[in-house]
Amino acid sequence: MLIRNHESAFDHPHASEITPPAVYAQRRALLRQLAGGAAGAALASWAGRQALAQTGQAPGRLAALAGQRSSVAGAVTVEKITAYQDATSYNNFYEFGTDKADPARNAHTLKTRPWTVEVEGLVNKPRRFDIEELLKLSAQEERIYRLRCVEGWSMVIPWVGYSLAELIKRVEPQGSAKYVEFVTLADKATMPYVGSRVLDWPYTEGLRLDEAMHPLTLLAFGMYGEVLPNQNGAPVRIVVPWKYGFKSAKSIVKIRFTDKEPATAWNKAARHEYGFYSNVNPDVAHPRWSQATERRIGEDGLFSRKRKTLLFNGYEAQVGQLYAGMDLKKFY
Ligand code: MTE
Repeated sequence: MLIRNHESAFDHPHASEITPPAVYAQRRALLRQLAGGAAGAALASWAGRQALAQTGQAPGRLAALAGQRSSVAGAVTVEKITAYQDATSYNNFYEFGTDKADPARNAHTLKTRPWTVEVEGLVNKPRRFDIEELLKLSAQEERIYRLRCVEGWSMVIPWVGYSLAELIKRVEPQGSAKYVEFVTLADKATMPYVGSRVLDWPYTEGLRLDEAMHPLTLLAFGMYGEVLPNQNGAPVRIVVPWKYGFKSAKSIVKIRFTDKEPATAWNKAARHEYGFYSNVNPDVAHPRWSQATERRIGEDGLFSRKRKTLLFNGYEAQVGQLYAGMDLKKFY
């Protein structure tokens, strides 16, 4: 069996030839930090080091965005982290195409500055946040979440961000606010599929206010210790780890508080297939396929077994009480 240690993974004779010099230099710097032990630990993010140790790949492509390791219950799974390469090249971001490889290929046109997020609706303090201000609104944390896609695959990604609740508290929702709607960018000039009939643009999503306030619901600005790559929803997205991936809206421009359940892009496209709740549930099949098992991206070998999907994607201890007494087959 071939055992690759971290050094040898990068000491391959052709590495400097196939890797852009700047990226290569950053990787070398990261390795030096690793060798530097505690001193290095402060510089290289925990996720960056994990990614390097587990997959032999450090991100090192975009601006660093470090986060303190989160102390929120359930926010850090110890499972093997998905390779950065997989997490950034196998995506759903229909504004840039419907093929999994399209977002990585096409999303370079997305302009992430200037960027603002409008917070409006049933709140006492509606306002527009500039992205730089939003980044600093609360301490950035590192959260390692499983993300389970409705299509039957999953990944484990180290996100950087803070609880959406931190933002919600600051705008003071009114008593009548029951739901939160997320509206994402729909810019025909930079997003080639906006205008196509695949979905009703802009891509929108929604949560019940208590779901949005749950500490696990993340307003994410980065992953793997760096800012989000465009294809993963730069410069800011939602990550809701106990719901199917499509609830985690990318490239958000508006957050609206309402008293009615908001329509969502997938709900509008196929109401009987994609409900408002969309909680990961092995016992409720999608009308066209079972949700009982999943394929972890990166474990695609000949002998790899499918994993059993867990209720609420394994976050039942943290979020189960939100749905106490609800018929989860009806509210799918
Ligand atoms: N957000 C927008 N704006 N447009 C999209 O097409 N796809 C969703 C979600 N957020 C989507 C989106 C789906 S179906 C999934 S599975 C996740 O993003 C995928 O996130 P990832 O590519 O970062 O893994």
